[in-house]
Amino acid sequence: MNSLVQASQAAGSSVGLDVDRITINGGLPLRGRIEVKGAKNLVTKAMVASLLGENVSVLRNVPNISDVRVVRSLLEIHGVDVTEGENPNELRLDPTNVESAHMEEIDAHAGFSRIPILFCGPLLHRLGAAFIPDLGGCRIGDRPIDFHLDALRKFGAVVEKLPQGIRLSAPNGLHGTTVHLPYPSVGATEQVLLTAVRAKGTTELKGAAIEPEIMDLIAVLQKMGAIISYEPNRVILIEGVDKLEGYDHTAIGDRNEAASWASAALATDGDVFVGGAKQQDMMTFLNIFRKAGGGFDITDDGIRFYRKEELKPVVIETDVHPGFMTDWQQPLIVALTQATGESIVHETVYENRFGFTDALNTMGANIVVHPNGLSGTPRRVPRRNLEQAAVINGPTPLHGADIEVPDLRGGFSHLIAALTAEGKSTVSNVGIISRGYENFIVKLQQLGADFVLETK
Ligand code: EPZ
Repeated sequence: MNSLVQASQAAGSSVGLDVDRITINGGLPLRGRIEVKGAKNLVTKAMVASLLGENVSVLRNVPNISDVRVVRSLLEIHGVDVTEGENPNELRLDPTNVESAHMEEIDAHAGFSRIPILFCGPLLHRLGAAFIPDLGGCRIGDRPIDFHLDALRKFGAVVEKLPQGIRLSAPNGLHGTTVHLPYPSVGATEQVLLTAVRAKGTTELKGAAIEPEIMDLIAVLQKMGAIISYEPNRVILIEGVDKLEGYDHTAIGDRNEAASWASAALATDGDVFVGGAKQQDMMTFLNIFRKAGGGFDITDDGIRFYRKEELKPVVIETDVHPGFMTDWQQPLIVALTQATGESIVHETVYENRFGFTDALNTMGANIVVHPNGLSGTPRRVPRRNLEQAAVINGPTPLHGADIEVPDLRGGFSHLIAALTAEGKSTVSNVGIISRGYENFIVKLQQLGADFVLETK
């Protein structure tokens, strides 16, 4: 069994999904109402933050996705008592008895998620040492951790690379410092926040990422007793404190999941109300959605997405917030195959995030990927000259095919393509999708999709 199939089955099983293959009879518009819960990219980090508290934290709006399961299990092997709260989608995290975990137990989590790297600072504060297994996550490029390790060294951590992972210690404790990130990395910003809040002295973080999920993590840390201020020009100041309490927090909604269902509505000419979607966190997406011919109605509870007119081509460049998120491009590209004319998507965050387009081409799309980009357009945040571009010419009717999910967002795009295509498509490795999309099978049913599931 190859590693992708294994990862898919492990992810699916952890949330009770026993299917690994879906046969979809496409060509039907998705119509109805679904809800998104807390953002994967905040919830998993807030769970890690609970390690820093002296008492119980309560996290609400937690989705049942496999990335949450992985982090829960990592916390549990470090002695955190994680239990379901009184209400649905609520977790109680009690870090009173944090302890070192056995290397073999930690190693069993290797390759499943990128979150373990964020355990470094909290474990160094609590235990003076940490071991982090080899990281997983989606296969969308190199995904190095140099910014994380450089920052940790500046705080005073000693980093030792082992064949199975990284061992860290802090013989002289952790001290506030100045960190200037070469690029506003989401994970490295979170690393600095989670380390600086209990370091001795003040930390100045320059070049910080400011995604809404990071702002929500800052809100969590402030509830715990941290002193963090956001200054102009991507500077964050963190004054270390001696002690943090537990928190009680409701996670912000998942704007990536919301954008994915919005793209599915656009591609299938459907009409989907996404409960929990918030305009403020999705403004850049909404602008492009409208330019592409989509319509949306904003309410206090969520956003209704539909096709307003014939689809039009757009030019997009992915970027850090407040730009167009890299996670939004894959689902939207499926809709762009149905637009009349040439769309261009420049990917500037990851070096390899168009792999999913091969399957779309098999289904009849006309997408050409230019690995070295199309022009030397200056970037908002120039870095490593990442300017891979996809040129999508449409409209191209899609036809059913057998396709295999390559990664989380690419996988959801495959589902949308199968829903859009005329005829039957079989999509395998769908367990991977449960890393970030809660109950997506139930949601497909709620939206009237026609499909059959194949059990493992
Ligand atoms: C987070 O990944 C998200 N994951 C990603 O979500 C998201 O695509 C990404 O941020 C960008 O918004 C989680 O929050 C768990 P980065 P992260 O550090 O933190 C380079 C999804 O599908 N880099 O901002 O890992 C890196 O290679 C996903 O939900 C270094 O060079 O992203 C990339 O090109 C996948 N060295 C760029 O920075 C480092 O040490 C941005 O990465 C760290 C990053």
